[in-house]
Amino acid sequence: MAPLEIESLGRRAEGMIRALAAISAEPGKITRLFLSPEHRRAADLVAEWMRAAGLSVTEDALGTVRGRLPSQAEKAGANGAKRLLLGSHIDSVIDAGAYDGTFGVIAAIIAAEVVASRHGAMPFGIDVLAFGDEEGSRFPVTLTSSQAIAGRFDPAALSATDRNGVSLKDALIAYGKDPDAIAAALYDPAEAAGYLEVHIEQGPVLESEDQALGVVTAIAGQTRLSVAVGGIAGHAGTVPMALRHDALLGAAEMALAVEAVALRGSANAMVGTVARIDEWPGASNVIPAFVDFSVDLRAASDAPRQQAEAEIRENFAAIAARRGLELIIKKDHDVPAAPCDPGLQALLDASIRRQGGKPPRLPSGAGHDGQAMRHLCPIAMLFVRCRGGISHNPAEFTSVEDMGRAIAALIDAIETFEV
Ligand code: HGY
Ligand code: MN
Ligand code: MN
Repeated sequence: MAPLEIESLGRRAEGMIRALAAISAEPGKITRLFLSPEHRRAADLVAEWMRAAGLSVTEDALGTVRGRLPSQAEKAGANGAKRLLLGSHIDSVIDAGAYDGTFGVIAAIIAAEVVASRHGAMPFGIDVLAFGDEEGSRFPVTLTSSQAIAGRFDPAALSATDRNGVSLKDALIAYGKDPDAIAAALYDPAEAAGYLEVHIEQGPVLESEDQALGVVTAIAGQTRLSVAVGGIAGHAGTVPMALRHDALLGAAEMALAVEAVALRGSANAMVGTVARIDEWPGASNVIPAFVDFSVDLRAASDAPRQQAEAEIRENFAAIAARRGLELIIKKDHDVPAAPCDPGLQALLDASIRRQGGKPPRLPSGAGHDGQAMRHLCPIAMLFVRCRGGISHNPAEFTSVEDMGRAIAALIDAIETFEV
């Protein structure tokens, strides 16, 4: 595709990125949580773009906005053709960057529009999916919207509550959805021919290899735990150190234990993160009585990650026993590493090469909706270089040119995809 076309595709995407970035719960930051008023506004804007691109739009029981382009057969009145699924997510982390998830949805909408304008219809249908719960930033569960499409939604997730005690079930109802209709969100596996997602790399590899685009080999497996540590509140001035049951110090020691286990597992691309920490009662002159924190553990393969989780649980129990603390560990999320389909990887690789790239093959340490969609159909991901590999950070940035290249490669992949 000519450089001018690349530039114009990228410029168009950048304008849409800016429009979505302006939809946030916090002025001057980007925070768009699942089933929030901001999610509603972003979903409405995406639906508008999909309609303008010639797609028919529906929304399912988990709030996923679905844009649909008919196949040649459907246009001729037949049905049941295979469908190529594209998409990504429009929810964000707290104080997020502008490109994580959103660029994948925008690239899919623009690519679907260009393909439809060039070919009318393809031998397969095209669906663009804008998921609303990839980050899991509101509820401790995650990937619920893509799991519903893939038929893997766990009803237990409905009782997960956010930091205000609102359950996922109540949030869905408040969003205008019917939790009893979740089963209907299941995609017909006989129709789903494949799922392609464009996403910023969120890491430094493409930049270090001076390549705009790359092809993902697999998505790392992920464990998310919620850990509650119970101690004894006391007067900060009168309780001798040796007699304390300080929940915060116990949690701090546990956080360092996570770091130590992850460092030992680094050969397996293992990473461990403790975050989302709440402490009670939060007064400077009261010994912390209660701490709740999250653990996020990832690795390229599953056995070492599961082994590391067992070790972390053992360490936490020993720390709690030694400090006389109560300990409750709840597993919120456990998703295995998801391999990308070799055939779809080759499809993306060839498309990128036709754009003049030499795409590295690389694993994704970040989680993605493909980890759910892999249960429905073969998946693949196209990564786009992002400046400094920075993500989950307002400094996240991907250039107009790289976005244009990614959209051009996606268009080529759709045009060369064979069901
Ligand atoms: O946490 C992740 O890896 C993804 O950004 N949700
Ligand atoms: Mn993402
Ligand atoms: Mn993310």
